[in-house]
Amino acid sequence: MKKDLISIGLMSSDEIKGILSLSKEIKNNPGKFSNVLKGKSLALIFEKPSNRTYVSFAVGMYQLGGNALYLGPEQIKLGVRETIHDVAKTLSRYVDGIVLRTFGHEKLLEMARYASVPVINGLSDYSHPCQALADTFTILEKFGDLKNRTMVYIGDGNNVCNSLLLISAKLGINFNVATPRGYEPDYLLFKNTVAAAARRGVKISLSRDPESAAKGADVIYTDVWASMGHEDEAAKRKRDFKKFQVTGKLVSLAKKNCLVMHCLPAHRGEEISDDAIDGKHSVVFDQAENRLHVQKAILVKLLKHGVKS
Ligand code: CP
Ligand code: NVA
Repeated sequence: MKKDLISIGLMSSDEIKGILSLSKEIKNNPGKFSNVLKGKSLALIFEKPSNRTYVSFAVGMYQLGGNALYLGPEQIKLGVRETIHDVAKTLSRYVDGIVLRTFGHEKLLEMARYASVPVINGLSDYSHPCQALADTFTILEKFGDLKNRTMVYIGDGNNVCNSLLLISAKLGINFNVATPRGYEPDYLLFKNTVAAAARRGVKISLSRDPESAAKGADVIYTDVWASMGHEDEAAKRKRDFKKFQVTGKLVSLAKKNCLVMHCLPAHRGEEISDDAIDGKHSVVFDQAENRLHVQKAILVKLLKHGVKS
């Protein structure tokens, strides 16, 4: 049966660890994998802009011996030009996998339901699992372990935050979100994850105070205050998030060897200051690079043995 990658919540800890370990193997020895997806094609359907996700999937496919096709907002027009059902069925006759970046998470679920090839979430309004996988790979690479580490997410409880929350619980990373009232991560996801994490001895918490949250953190993570699709709220959000900027001063409260992370694109001077993003703790471009290695591992896992039906 084909396998999709829609949400971290649908993956077991072992599956996640399997992807992280294959990512390491691919990063260390890319030549060994240069032909594993020979003759395979990947459709990249993007309803929103992208730099990292698009380029790393396209280059990754090329490096694995396969081919990628970019289908932007003007091409497929999901649900407008034709139904998602018909797009899924048609593309499954041509390609071996589909990456979808969309405003509506439900579109991903529908695509996965009707496609006979693997569907990968390239970011939705709800989650960004490929980002969370690359981020935990980066943390593992930097520290050599994940257990008992604490990640503090400062800012909007958005798609990236939801996926980081889920993956932290599955990998044993304590996760603290510092966010203003009204910008918390998805309520149900948070509630269920806190309970599941507590059973494994992992602490997930919510705070309103970035400074006390930052104290003793191994990782300080932030993302834009206004995600794609929320641009019209940018002015209000700038006011609401004013005290939630990641600065060099805030980073100095964390552990001495802490990592400063951001999925990028960054709005410098808003959620993160130049001294934090360009400072010695920042690993933002390692994160960006690791999107490539980790997504190659995802493609190998999902597409290598894929049989279209
Ligand atoms: N981090 C990330 O997904 O970047 P893009 O939006 O540029 O793909
Ligand atoms: N939260 C951001 C992430 C971009 C990679 C957005 O959805 O715009």
